[in-house]
Formats: sequence, structure tokens, C-alpha cells
Amino acid sequence: MIGLCSDHAGYELKEYIKTLLDARGLSYKDFGTYSSDSCDYPDYAHPMAEAIERGEVYPGIAICGTGNGIGMTLNKHQGVRAALCWRSDIAQLARAHNDANVVVVPGRFISLEDTRKIIEVFLDTPFEGGRHARRIQKIPVR
Ligand code: RB5
Repeated sequence: MIGLCSDHAGYELKEYIKTLLDARGLSYKDFGTYSSDSCDYPDYAHPMAEAIERGEVYPGIAICGTGNGIGMTLNKHQGVRAALCWRSDIAQLARAHNDANVVVVPGRFISLEDTRKIIEVFLDTPFEGGRHARRIQKIPVR
């Protein structure tokens, strides 16, 4: 079950991403927001992060205007590795090297086509493990 969350600045791109997931026959849980009305990204990021930590959803997809606010919020959670991705090669490395469990997309600064490539690469790329496993094990602070 894939998790989705956004603020108002990411709402339309979140709806587009749902069509990509539908086309692949993938299930998802949408943590909101559910319209383009102004809202606060932590109200949607924290519930999705908690669901990831409980193992209820994996991976997560998150969108705000720049990707920074929602990504900062998600990464407050020790079990979350949220990666801001604006190119598909960064998304590929976020999975292969960082074992990112959330891909964050900057909704106001990215095309639909680049978004599609990023989501597909993120979903299709496995973690390489090895030296990268040692590094990500050192990320949590408690
Ligand atoms: C909303 O206007 C915008 O500030 C938010 O989507 C995000 O970019 C913050 O980091």
C-alpha cells in the first residue's frame, strides 16, 4: 500500500500521480490534502510518516510547492528517509544508495513528464545494500 500526502501546492500533482498508480494497478492510501484550499503540510505529512513507521504504507509519495517543507516534516520521523527528487537520476540514487522510503516532489517546479519518470524510477529501483546499508544505519539520532 503506497502512501500519498501533499499540501495545497501539491494537490493537483498528487491527483496526477494517482492516475499513474492506477495505471500500474497499485493500491494507495491518500492522507490528504483533498483540495487546493490553503493548508499546512505538517497536518498531512505527520500522519503518513507515522503510518510508514507502523508499516502500514510503503513507500510514500509527498508533494508540496518546493518539496522542502513536507520533506523536512517527514524526516523528523526516525523511521522515514524522505528524498527530495527533481530528476529521475536523483530518484534512482535515492533508492539505490539511500533506501529512501518516501519520494518528495516539488509540485510548483516540475513537469508532469518529469514527475512520471521520477515516480516510475523510484518504484522500480531496488536498494543496493552493502556499504550503503552501513551508512543509512547511522542516520537515526535515537
Ligand atoms: C505553500 O505556499 C508552500 O510554502 C509549501 O507548499 C512548500 O513549498 C513549503 O515548503
